Amino acid sequence: MTSLQKDILELREKKALVQMGGGEAAIEKQEAMGKLTARNRILALLDENSFQEYDLFVEHAARGFGMEKKVLPGDGVITGTGTIFGAPVCIYAQDFTVAGGSLGLMHARKITKIMDHALKMKVPIIGINDSGGARIQEGVGALAGYGEIFYRNTIASGVIPQISVILGPCAGGAVYSPALTDFVFVVENISKMFITGPNVIKTVLGEEISMEDLGGARVHAEITGNAHFYAKSEQECFEQIKKLVTFIPWNNKQRARAFPPKEPIFEKTVNDIIPSDPKQPYDVRDIIKSIVDDSDFFEIQELWAANIVIGFGRIHGETIGFVANQPMVMAGVLDCDSSDKAARFIRYCDSFNIPIITLEDMPGYLPGVDQEHAGVIRHGAKVLYAYSEATVPKITIILRKAYGGGYIAMNSRHLGADFVFAWPSAEIAVMGPEGAANIIFRKEIMEAEDQDAMRQEKVKEYIEKFANPYVAASKGYIDAVIEPRETRAILMHALILAKSKEESRPEKKHGIPPF
Ligand code: HXC
Repeated sequence: MTSLQKDILELREKKALVQMGGGEAAIEKQEAMGKLTARNRILALLDENSFQEYDLFVEHAARGFGMEKKVLPGDGVITGTGTIFGAPVCIYAQDFTVAGGSLGLMHARKITKIMDHALKMKVPIIGINDSGGARIQEGVGALAGYGEIFYRNTIASGVIPQISVILGPCAGGAVYSPALTDFVFVVENISKMFITGPNVIKTVLGEEISMEDLGGARVHAEITGNAHFYAKSEQECFEQIKKLVTFIPWNNKQRARAFPPKEPIFEKTVNDIIPSDPKQPYDVRDIIKSIVDDSDFFEIQELWAANIVIGFGRIHGETIGFVANQPMVMAGVLDCDSSDKAARFIRYCDSFNIPIITLEDMPGYLPGVDQEHAGVIRHGAKVLYAYSEATVPKITIILRKAYGGGYIAMNSRHLGADFVFAWPSAEIAVMGPEGAANIIFRKEIMEAEDQDAMRQEKVKEYIEKFANPYVAASKGYIDAVIEPRETRAILMHALILAKSKEESRPEKKHGIPPF
């Protein structure tokens, strides 16, 4: 055996040892919880044989508490690069089998190094979180590590896509890295995210709560809105991530990859979806499916603030971001949560050169003390801000109701929409016909012998006069009243026209959105 062959053999043995992470018993414990190991997660997510590991031999730098004697393979995190359907990505996965995936200084350095690499190479970064948080024995060194990750999350925001996958505990300050990234994936029974764990809550507040009820996957997918994608298994979660990667560009200087165009295959045609009774709800996702290629709509934050629908689809092979009121849930009103959901997505699309199509059917902002006190003014303003600020192609289709502040907020001409189309069923008015007639014809209704009949007559009069698209069309606020079945063709034409769109804004450091 030559000395080189001997060295290679030794390297292989060393590698195999470190790659075992926390060892057999810890791996068994991990797998018994229904969790893959950090290494297997990376291998399951990336294209076969594409993973190139970095910094396998980095060692921890902790001193005291007997740490000098401890061996922590890879310091509890695996980092490297690879591809997903050929798209390059940087990736890290915390290894819970090594000191609970806790974050020490060298662990953090491995993460910040791969983040810096992603930012320099202008490719997406994916972080798989499975950790007990700051490594208690390392004290301020661990806190410093977190701070340096958060800083990079912020600097990279809007430059490269940042994806967080929560596949275990993500406790304490650790939660703020995912919160700063673009998309957070959670898995039923596996993901746990919270600032303060159940033990501390019990000690401080005397309340008993399980980890699942405090910050399980469902809690973040449905109640807090911190998670964007919810899966039943790690495998399903990886499929979701792979699909997302096909819809987004590698960085903010590029466009998402174009796919071969396909016709929609949805069983209903677009003409048959909206009920003839304007009070009847319908599922706006059916309209999206009847418009997009292959009827393939990739919904984001499906379980949270369902009164607005957001997600990606393709038209003629190109990625589009959809923002649509959902008449099936609370009549599609805008409230605090749905405003946050829409505004953030609009900013995402704008940062990453993804045209936005807005489908509008909503009676306005949600009235009531709860919403006012929860800050619907501030939250609602985010939608106005996000649409006004966005310079990507912005197209609106008014399907049915476009009332009051909602009309303005949902990418109206006045906020800089490039194209505004309305279906003949559109009603554009300050408020709904009943409410409006009761106010402006109050005297006539009060004085009438048959008040109900008079009210009906006045409502009809109001509908004829205002609750249609033609008043707005006569003022040039909408570009064309179109037939529903023409929608896809008209959108395709508008998108081709908008491909070379250029729009600039006054120079500034940054705006001050109503965060
Ligand atoms: C050091 C840790 C650790 C930590 C876990 N371990 N968390 N070591 N620092 N933060 C170690 C354990 O000692 C154990 O080591 C191994 O990881 C596995 O942990 P277990 O407790 O046996 O696992 P499990 O029962 O599954 O419980 C997991 C857990 C629990 C729920 C995550 O470990 C836990 O509550 N950890 C603390 C979580 C927390 O409060 N973190 C916040 C830290 S403060 P051995 O050697 O026995 O196998 C923070 C602030 C950051 O993060 C602020 C940034 C701005």
